[in-house]
Amino acid sequence: MNSVRSTSWENELKSCIRGKSLVFLLADSNLPDSYSKDIVKVCKIKNKTHLLKIKGGEQIKTHQHLIQIYNELDVVGADRKSVFMCLGGGTISDLGGLAASTYKRGIDFIILPTTVIGMVDAAIGGKNGINLESNVGILKNQIGTFYQPKLIGINFKWLDSLPKDEVKSGWGEMLKHALLIGGPHLEKFKNAEPNLASLIPLIIDSGNIKEGIVRRDVKENGERALLNLGHTIGHAIESLELDSSNASEIKHGIAVAWGIVFTLEVSVRKLGFNDALAKQLIKWIVDIIGYREHLWESKEVWLKMCKDKKNTNGNVKDVMLRSPGDADWHFTWEREEFTILWEQFRERYELTSC
Ligand SMILES: NC(=O)c1ccc[n+]([C@@H]2O[C@H](COP(=O)([O-])OP(=O)(O)OC[C@H]3O[C@@H](n4cnc5c(N)ncnc54)[C@H](O)[C@@H]3O)[C@@H](O)[C@H]2O)c1
Ligand SMILES: [Zn+2]
Repeated sequence: MNSVRSTSWENELKSCIRGKSLVFLLADSNLPDSYSKDIVKVCKIKNKTHLLKIKGGEQIKTHQHLIQIYNELDVVGADRKSVFMCLGGGTISDLGGLAASTYKRGIDFIILPTTVIGMVDAAIGGKNGINLESNVGILKNQIGTFYQPKLIGINFKWLDSLPKDEVKSGWGEMLKHALLIGGPHLEKFKNAEPNLASLIPLIIDSGNIKEGIVRRDVKENGERALLNLGHTIGHAIESLELDSSNASEIKHGIAVAWGIVFTLEVSVRKLGFNDALAKQLIKWIVDIIGYREHLWESKEVWLKMCKDKKNTNGNVKDVMLRSPGDADWHFTWEREEFTILWEQFRERYELTSC
């Protein structure tokens, strides 16, 4: 892994695009125009630059959007010496990363993340991907590659326009890193409110936790699977909401936080996680994310879990915790046990049944 992650993004950017035949900037149209204008201004000094704007969100992680990007690259004459730049959150960099890694077998790639999730997670580690519309509905991130960006350029000012619920979603992904590392970082994170003022000082550390894990296992042959904490359930819930055209209903980080609440409960039973600590953590998390109107039935969740891309030989894999800072990525689910535990969980946390 040889990406540079830097807060002096402008200087790094200039050096990354030096001598490139074309800068292709894919930007989220939900962003204030000034963000892409500033970047185009920097690029245009020495480079031919093309801007494509699309509206970010989970709905763009499709092969149709991928093909739209390939066509645009073709129309503007991008070649192997071109550089592909993404300005946006995780959906823009997941889609753009796949385009960059496959167009003409791969062109240079830069990510300028504009969400908390982007800065602490999606931009780091070189995974990209789109969702698959399968015979059991939408399946998250089933098509993708490993492809490292040359630069991850961080500018906290870009977070100023981020809606509050997206900041909270970022909190959910930062929670995952805090539980994986435990110790003083978790204690600091527990004292942080899910708002920008509290989270910004923790963003670089949170990203470092991911970077450390990825550096030791770039292609996910082992330890990197830890980063799926909360994601087996999280992705299942997100996919079910996408199927029901409720794409905006649950944010990625909130789905992950629900996955983590369930994981903590199961970890007490299966891995001896301290019961009192789990209860304390669960209360803290649920107080922030709030109860849900609807959590899906076990059979629906199970169907999605069976298609999770971590699974091998038909085993449904998950990540559990022995304690904060000590996770196990070898956990395998049995359907019967999952069904009982999930239905009990739903009863506790569905708003309608409280
Ligand atoms: N590749 C990875 O390793 C990885 C890791 C974590 C998450 N992800 C993926 O990332 C996605 C979630 O990331 P996300 O929350 O950044 O998604 P996102 O790109 O959908 O951004 C969330 C919303 O905020 C808007 N937005 C983005 N930046 C903004 C800004 N600065 N101001 C105003 N609005 C802004 C977007 O238009 C979108 O509506 C999921 O698809 C998830 O699977 C990937
Ligand atoms: Zn995630």
